Amino acid sequence: MSAFNAPRKPRATHPGAQGIATSQAEPIGQVDASNGARLGTGYAEFDRVLGGGLAAGSVTLIGGDPGIGKSTLLLQCAAAISARVPVLYATGEESVRQVAERGKRLAVQGPALSLISETAVERILEECERAGARVLIVDSIQTMSVGDVDAAPGAVTQLRESTARLVRHAKAAGTAVLLIGHVTREGVIAGPRVLEHMVDTVLYFESDSGSRFRVIRAVKNRFGAVNEIGVFAMDEQGLHEVRNPSAIFLSRGSEAVPGSVVTVAREGTRQMLIEVQSLVDPSQAANPRRVAVGFESNRVALLLAVLHRHAGIALHSHDVFVNVVGGVRLAETAADLAVVAAIASSMSGESLPKELVIFGELGLTGEIRPVPYGEERLREAAKHGFRRAIVPRANAPRQAIAGIEVAAAARLPEALAALR
Ligand code: TYD
Ligand code: MG
Repeated sequence: MSAFNAPRKPRATHPGAQGIATSQAEPIGQVDASNGARLGTGYAEFDRVLGGGLAAGSVTLIGGDPGIGKSTLLLQCAAAISARVPVLYATGEESVRQVAERGKRLAVQGPALSLISETAVERILEECERAGARVLIVDSIQTMSVGDVDAAPGAVTQLRESTARLVRHAKAAGTAVLLIGHVTREGVIAGPRVLEHMVDTVLYFESDSGSRFRVIRAVKNRFGAVNEIGVFAMDEQGLHEVRNPSAIFLSRGSEAVPGSVVTVAREGTRQMLIEVQSLVDPSQAANPRRVAVGFESNRVALLLAVLHRHAGIALHSHDVFVNVVGGVRLAETAADLAVVAAIASSMSGESLPKELVIFGELGLTGEIRPVPYGEERLREAAKHGFRRAIVPRANAPRQAIAGIEVAAAARLPEALAALR
């Protein structure tokens, strides 16, 4: 019987800070450490980020800007999950009618999905037990409060205590709890941030402003790898999975243009083809601008210094803009070489071949350093029709990869020469 169908028997325990302490020490070999059954959310993109679905008794915090689609995603998941186990969706932000209307618009069917509009945690937990819910969704943690704490909802003490109460319930009853947390646009994460250490998993839901694509990313996960991402697209029918993100991040025009190049990024366990753009323009200001979207600005400054010293391309009187297309963030140094190639291409006005991909880390001495999963990246590029690649010397594949010609470079000048 899966952990989700069997409510855990409460044991005699001394609840510790989070109510998970057992009163007797056990030899580690005798503790049941089986992974436990995972419950699919109905969305493979979401399951992967969770580390293979929801674990029984886990508490997951999902943060993100207001309006990004947190309620939409979790309502869709709640409906899908309720085909297998009872789910309770507790909202402190909307009436049950509003939620039901949204559900209707999303055409979700939830045979065992119950809704409650409530902000008192005690009431929600009572209702959770009454409904026998194996999954509880709390929308949002900022609206919740417990009676014996004298503070307004959203205040840090209230956030902490409400979360602690929910965590205790999750651990004792084996219910999977999903908490929604708003992050304000100014990046003030004061609310959800204080909760990060209390929960098992922290996910962020992100998007570029104006983009219909949404990326969900694990930043902490006791049940899986971090930095896994799931990609969704939002339309009038809610959120849809994007199973092949390379295809969307690569929607380029048919003409090759200066300042654009494609790199192969690795996010979590998969490769993605992503376009990197740069614009280099004579600066009118005393301090030329270095602006990067989707890439770390400090790293752009570093790469510009390397470009100057080791390739003789001086940009101290130019503004340099770098943009990662599609609202994704490139956190990997493997994108260095693509950023440098895009900058050099914009500066020279020469476009790079459309069938070219490039990746590699750039060191301060001008050396090109290997990156993990070189072959997998090359295979992904070949799969999407790229015919040429420039990669670090140490990433040159031992056996040729069908369909793609690989140029390996050990130093920056070599890589820039291979661009032509
Ligand atoms: P919502 O899930 O309420 O965001 P959050 O809970 O993160 O604050 O989503 C709100 C936005 O999503 C809102 O601007 C409308 C848009 N939306 C769609 O585009 N399509 C849909 O099917 C739904 C339900 C919402
Ligand atoms: Mg909401």
